[in-house]
Amino acid sequence: MNMHVFLQHGLGLILLGAQYTSGAAVPSSECRRWCGNVEIPYPFGIDPNCSLVADVFDLSCELRDGVLKPFRGIFEVLDISLAHSTARVLNNIEASCYNNTTKSMEHFGYHESANGGPSSVYRLSDVQNRFTVIGCSALASMSDQDGTGYQGMAVATCRDMSDLVDGSCAGMGCSQTMIPKRMYYYDTNFSSSVNTSRIWEFNRCSYAVLMEAAVFNFDISYVGNTTFNDTYHGWVPMVVDWAIRDVNSCDAAQRNMTYACLSSNSVCVGSVNDYGYTCNCSQGYEGNPYLQGGCKDVDECRNNNPCPSGGTCHNTIGGYRCSCRVGTKLEGNTCSPNIGLILGVTMGLFGSIVITMIIIFWGQMAIQKRKLEKVKREYFRQHGGLFLFDRMKSEKGLAFMIFSEAELVHATNNFDSTRILGKGGHGTVYKGIMKNNMPVAIKRCALVDARQKKEFGQELLILSQINHKNVVKLLGCCLEVEVPILVYELVLNGTLFEHIHGKKQASQISFSNLLRISYEAAEGLSFLHSYASPPIIHGDVKTSNILLDENHMAKVSDFGASILAPSDEEQFVTIIQGTCGYLDPEYLQTCQLTSKSDVYSFGVILLEVLTGQLPMKLEGPDTQKILTSTFLSAMSENNLDTVLVSHVKAQASMELLKGLANLANKCLDLCGDNRPSMKEVAEELGRLRKLPMYPWVQLGVETHGESPSVHEIESDYYMGENESQHINPGSSYYAR
Ligand SMILES: *[C@@H]1O[C@H](CO)[C@@H](O)[C@H](O)[C@H]1NC(C)=O
Ligand SMILES: *[C@@H]1O[C@H](CO)[C@@H](O)[C@H](O)[C@H]1NC(C)=O
Ligand SMILES: *[C@@H]1O[C@H](CO)[C@@H](O)[C@H](O)[C@H]1NC(C)=O
Ligand SMILES: *[C@@H]1O[C@H](CO)[C@@H](O)[C@H](O)[C@H]1NC(C)=O
Ligand SMILES: *[C@@H]1O[C@H](CO)[C@@H](O)[C@H](O)[C@H]1NC(C)=O
Ligand SMILES: *[C@@H]1O[C@H](CO)[C@@H](O)[C@H](O)[C@H]1NC(C)=O
Ligand SMILES: *[C@@H]1O[C@H](CO)[C@@H](O)[C@H](O)[C@H]1NC(C)=O
Ligand SMILES: *[C@@H]1O[C@H](CO)[C@@H](O)[C@H](O)[C@H]1NC(C)=O
Ligand SMILES: *[C@@H]1O[C@H](CO)[C@@H](O)[C@H](O)[C@H]1NC(C)=O
Repeated sequence: MNMHVFLQHGLGLILLGAQYTSGAAVPSSECRRWCGNVEIPYPFGIDPNCSLVADVFDLSCELRDGVLKPFRGIFEVLDISLAHSTARVLNNIEASCYNNTTKSMEHFGYHESANGGPSSVYRLSDVQNRFTVIGCSALASMSDQDGTGYQGMAVATCRDMSDLVDGSCAGMGCSQTMIPKRMYYYDTNFSSSVNTSRIWEFNRCSYAVLMEAAVFNFDISYVGNTTFNDTYHGWVPMVVDWAIRDVNSCDAAQRNMTYACLSSNSVCVGSVNDYGYTCNCSQGYEGNPYLQGGCKDVDECRNNNPCPSGGTCHNTIGGYRCSCRVGTKLEGNTCSPNIGLILGVTMGLFGSIVITMIIIFWGQMAIQKRKLEKVKREYFRQHGGLFLFDRMKSEKGLAFMIFSEAELVHATNNFDSTRILGKGGHGTVYKGIMKNNMPVAIKRCALVDARQKKEFGQELLILSQINHKNVVKLLGCCLEVEVPILVYELVLNGTLFEHIHGKKQASQISFSNLLRISYEAAEGLSFLHSYASPPIIHGDVKTSNILLDENHMAKVSDFGASILAPSDEEQFVTIIQGTCGYLDPEYLQTCQLTSKSDVYSFGVILLEVLTGQLPMKLEGPDTQKILTSTFLSAMSENNLDTVLVSHVKAQASMELLKGLANLANKCLDLCGDNRPSMKEVAEELGRLRKLPMYPWVQLGVETHGESPSVHEIESDYYMGENESQHINPGSSYYAR
């Protein structure tokens, strides 16, 4: 029998013997690639000389009901997948129905017993298809080509319609079974001993078909009068696996003239169903692996970003890569802080000296790296900056230490809550005692997000290099934990905030000391602003960030918000940072932090010193809630006296207080450019400090025209020793 002839029933599409031509012809560009709405990708074709193998991969394109549809014999082709080497076709529902006139069972639909041929390219998909039988007295069997191989059965029964459940296909009215691999043909037989002669009034027909499981959902009406056959109009989708089957395997195919996966980035894949092979585009490519140049690069970044959160996706030929933001690097599936990178990037900003240093450093590292034992190299890779800081230490002679996690756990008694000195927006600070009995402040970030990791890195970098008596000293860090832990010198005597607004309030500290502390803080900030170009901006200047050491010397702390390079695009989208009441109004509008923003905040500090008031009050009359506006209106009304706190008035001269108020006024100028620089502020404070301390209000006490006595300064020392030391107090003050 001619193999090209479709038999009157059965699965014609599986019957074709192969007439393989040698050497895959390049299909003409005139070949039609669409039939109606269905794409016909090579190796398939609908026109002559357009498929990989004549006849075997040929489809016909026929006009049915006014629409062009591709057919393989009697089977309409719904779609063809190259990536999965499957095709969906419509398969005919077979039925066995009782005829109440002839009193016999009649068979409908296609079934067959003819021989297909194992060289057919198609196989019935065992993964996606189920042999589906519907009825209340139905027993159907399916068998492969000669009845001697596979024989499967499915039975569906019920007493009446009430036994049936929508969606349930487990025997009551509906039953599905799997089929094995390697089937290219099947035959259906309804058992004559189980028939619908007694139940024909509600279930005249039994149905059986091999169909795609995913599209089937049992409905009880399939047994009733709108039957399964009616619902699907006699045809249901079925999946076939196709493959090139002129050889057994990829190995053999690659040695054969007819090998079809010759185009670049095309790989051979052994057939999943029976022998033979298919072609697939290699990982990172998509398209038609059977055509020259058919596999095209996939733009992995176009739709869903496959990179971890915070990462940026970059498409590459055959793949993609992820990059993390400046200051983080890809580690496993997350962007984690990369001290080394931050160092490299930011240090560039410190000018050519540092650049030279980096060059020396990298050069040294390259030499050093070769010498390193394998183990240490691995360690370095894991912890990034460890070795880096080692180098820094020896290069620059920084008194900077790398601590192990165990050391810090020991120092803080496993981060015991009784050791907490303060909690702030950027982390928790613990008091720690190092092995040499040196007390330190250990700062650990509570929340780990990419931005905070970056802040940590920045803080680390800046502070490790800054050495100024009015800036809190960074002693070292610990890098073997997810978020680096920072170790600072412990600054014992509370904050300026506590000394101005604390419980003991005005009695605590003399005005001359307040003035000196302000001056020192200004010096510290001025140092930061002048240390590098562009300047290091603190970004969160406030009284609670000015710490006092045992000599009541001011030390500026908490660089969590510090910004090194204001050109960074990211900044324009980050949330405003800082603390309510201290925020530069210009910064709020432009979102650009400048050194003048620190000057503004410092102006607020001067007001707190002068007035003893909080920058913002939640209670009280509206007009007095914001300290700056209360002050500025008093200034404009030339009514300074009303806002100054009495103990200040009692301790300082009018000239001094007016000078301070004027300085504060300049710092609070709405236009940043008009504000003095931090250096000028420090100089002015230095000048004012030298003025005699005549009180504004004469108390009738004789003064000596000199600064307060030593005794007076020393009297400040009584406080602080027993007080809890909050490095970051006043959580209610933090901007959210
Ligand atoms: C198909 O190719 C063969 C051999 O190259 C050629 O003889 C024949 O004319 C072609 N048929 C069409 C319709 O192009
Ligand atoms: C029953 O069989 C008779 C005789 O062959 C035929 O005319 C009739 O259409 C059949 N009825 C049904 C419902 O198939
Ligand atoms: C056969 O079925 C038809 C409707 O399908 C019905 O009119 C007729 O009465 C039935 N015959 C018998 C003998 O039940
Ligand atoms: C239906 O099955 C019963 C029991 O197996 C049998 O007696 C009867 O002849 C069958 N009827 C037809 C029409 O096949
Ligand atoms: C189909 O059923 C008939 C009658 O029961 C039987 O003679 C025949 O061998 C069966 N065919 C197959 C393939 O099972
Ligand atoms: C379907 O059967 C129900 C009874 O089961 C009957 O009431 C209804 O009229 C039938 N519908 C049709 C279209 O035959
Ligand atoms: C199944 O439906 C098709 C199309 O609606 C129809 O031609 C065929 O006769 C039906 N078969 C049965 C057994 O009802
Ligand atoms: C190559 O393929 C042809 C059929 O196209 C086949 O006859 C031949 O045996 C194959 N050769 C090898 C080495 O598999
Ligand atoms: C072909 O490659 C795609 C993408 O790489 C993959 O999803 C698919 O499973 C592969 N197909 C086969 C048959 O291996």
